[in-house]
Amino acid sequence: MDSVIGLVNSIQRACTVLGDYGSGDALPTLWDSLPTIVVVGGQSSGKSSVLESIVGRDFLPRGSGIVTRRPLVLQLYKTEQGQEEYVQFLHQGTKKFTDFCMSFLMLVNLTLIDLPGLTKVAVEGQPESIVQNIENMVRSYVEKPNCIILAITPANQDVATSDAIKLAREVDPAGERTFGVLTKLDLMDRGTNALDVLEGRSYRLQHPWVGIVNRSQADINRNVDMLAARRREHEFFATSPDYGHLASRMGSEYLAKLLSKQLELVIKVRIPSIMSLINQSIDELQAELNDLGRPVTVDPGSHLYTILELCRAFDRVFKEHLDGGRPGGDR
Ligand code: GDP
Ligand code: NA
Ligand code: MG
Repeated sequence: MDSVIGLVNSIQRACTVLGDYGSGDALPTLWDSLPTIVVVGGQSSGKSSVLESIVGRDFLPRGSGIVTRRPLVLQLYKTEQGQEEYVQFLHQGTKKFTDFCMSFLMLVNLTLIDLPGLTKVAVEGQPESIVQNIENMVRSYVEKPNCIILAITPANQDVATSDAIKLAREVDPAGERTFGVLTKLDLMDRGTNALDVLEGRSYRLQHPWVGIVNRSQADINRNVDMLAARRREHEFFATSPDYGHLASRMGSEYLAKLLSKQLELVIKVRIPSIMSLINQSIDELQAELNDLGRPVTVDPGSHLYTILELCRAFDRVFKEHLDGGRPGGDR
């Protein structure tokens, strides 16, 4: 599993490099065919917090208002030795973050996209068009069939008015790739609970709803770390008179498990088409190199050369996977 996802990530990296280089029409297609996980929801619904707690590390800007102004593409890696892990923001080049809380190693090598929040009204100083522009941008991500949607809805708000669910329903009517995530369960009014949503009566999705308790702003200000937050989230569900019976199917860790399974499923289905796209890219890149008139003496240091080599390497490794895997690989 790790190795398959690792491969997909490598290809995504190559696509980004190629995108920067501006080469090859096949590459956007290749990128689009790879699975990604995207968080969608209203402003301050807890999107960045959910991504972080799935991963088990602090690395995203969080807070009230629009903190995430544009899509952040994140990748999580495990090195060959399984030691150093880091996150790469593709739009920032190769900035590495290495000192993570290593509490949660199950989910590695993933591409996650943190999107700006959907808004209903432009705030002062913003053009009126911002509401529609954000929605269009978010839609351009979630409408892709390869996109796994985390539809984030705060529990202290009516699900019927959830922007996330509204958009998810539009682009994924069958709910096949939508995961409903209910945040802020700790902030509900006393005497109320979210069982109607969590048990699928309010709004039924193909995948089960997952309730989450992220860190509050006060926790963030006090630097409550991820481990402590996780522990508290566990406790919250385990000891809750309302949610106790659902405790094993609630929380960030459980959500991460669900996503991991879903990702594996999607990738396995897509391997053949990814392979044919890679072959197509190799052909195009080779043609491009030939056009440059240096078919034999390509500068081994050149970008194009590197990319071609990358594609060939993917092709080889994918074939190995299809031939039954390699030692220590997919299980
Ligand atoms: P985003 O704008 O959707 O990315 O939301 P953030 O993740 O930045 O969270 C917005 C604010 O809500 C922050 O102050 C978080 O601490 C807080 N928050 C998010 N989820 C929860 C939760 O489950 N419980 C509590 N109490 N606060 C939360
Ligand atoms: Na926010
Ligand atoms: Mg955010």
